[in-house]
Amino acid sequence: MSRPLLTARIATLRQQRIDQQRLRVRRTVLRRDGMRCEVQAGDGGATRWLLDFCGNDYLGLARHYTVSGALQDEAARSGAGGVASHLVCGHHAAHVALELAVADWLQAPAALLLGSGYLANLAVVQALLGEGDVCVQDRLNHASLIDGARLAGCALRRYPHADPEGALRQLRAAPEGAALLASDGVFSMDGDIAPLRALALIARAQRATLYIDEAHATGVLGEEGRGSVAAAGLDHGAVPLRLVTLGKALGGYGALVVGEADLVRHLAETARPYIYTTALPPALAAASLAAVQRARRDELAARAAGGTGGPLPRRRAPARAAAARLRHPDPAAALRRRRARAGAGAGAGGAGPLGRRDPSANRAGRPRAPAYHPVGRTHEAQLRTLLDALARVHDRLAGATARPGTDI
Ligand SMILES: Cc1ncc(COP(=O)(O)O)c(C=O)c1O
Repeated sequence: MSRPLLTARIATLRQQRIDQQRLRVRRTVLRRDGMRCEVQAGDGGATRWLLDFCGNDYLGLARHYTVSGALQDEAARSGAGGVASHLVCGHHAAHVALELAVADWLQAPAALLLGSGYLANLAVVQALLGEGDVCVQDRLNHASLIDGARLAGCALRRYPHADPEGALRQLRAAPEGAALLASDGVFSMDGDIAPLRALALIARAQRATLYIDEAHATGVLGEEGRGSVAAAGLDHGAVPLRLVTLGKALGGYGALVVGEADLVRHLAETARPYIYTTALPPALAAASLAAVQRARRDELAARAAGGTGGPLPRRRAPARAAAARLRHPDPAAALRRRRARAGAGAGAGGAGPLGRRDPSANRAGRPRAPAYHPVGRTHEAQLRTLLDALARVHDRLAGATARPGTDI
């Protein structure tokens, strides 16, 4: 028999990753203290304090006392678990309260709470499309949107990043089946914003449904933090479905799909990633409700204090500029670069930056530098630490003589 042994295959593949210096390792966070965290390398390796520039807790809500207080209160009442799936007996009043609050916040007719953003993206594409249909996507969309198209069994057609003309070409090339045009609102690794108004026009002209993943835009962009769709002046008429994740700016876990009521109801009744999984624990829903209320209140307060009501204060530009200097055509070098960056903070005080991983480094020839960092409330000095560390890594990779006194 010629059937390959899986154990032999995975050993070969692992060795290849080692040889190509693409092996991914987990670092364990032992404790957090504001922007700093104590991190242990590998299994039981050395520990060190680093500045965290790669988490998604953009508004600092994950440890806000109102959010953790709501979690504790609801856990005391309803326990730790979700008990069952929504269509059995897991649908809880705390879920309903969160769905209503998010629909109200985002000025959408309906919202559906799901276990995570990954599951929600699978759910949307799987429930809406099937064989003979087409899902047209930006080529830098999150992996969950790509996986959703695979699960749906539809055709997946990708267009060049942020290129509405490309989207139009792909839709025109598949005129027969039903079509979903899907894009991240804010792209997770580059931090740029999709050309939403152009995509909305194209979707309308091509009778496609526009779906925008607001994972990195909710709570951050637009009036009251409503996201990139709201910031572009679009509503649910133009963008019938949006994804809101709870694990990023809102500091919790889970996700909601918001939009037109009939589409949302269809998901609740048919989406496999919604039906065949345990409901989110009600305590997590209660925590996210508190986070939503807090995010709205903070943004209103910022505007009352003289802000413009535009994006919440995030400063991506310095990180983006520094990261752009590190672009490299070799994926293995990109991985080495990240390792060096994570180790770049061994200078005075032991406080260095914990760099964000770059998933595209695994794609041969197409590494991109991470450019989206949760630095909105970061002190200037911490930003300087990051920029200095990036500059040192850049110098080292470029083979330049290390600056006197640096230790990387
Ligand atoms: C753009 C985007 N969409 C979806 C997800 C998945 O969200 P979750 O972490 O809630 O599964 C992520 C998470 O990294 C993301 O960056």
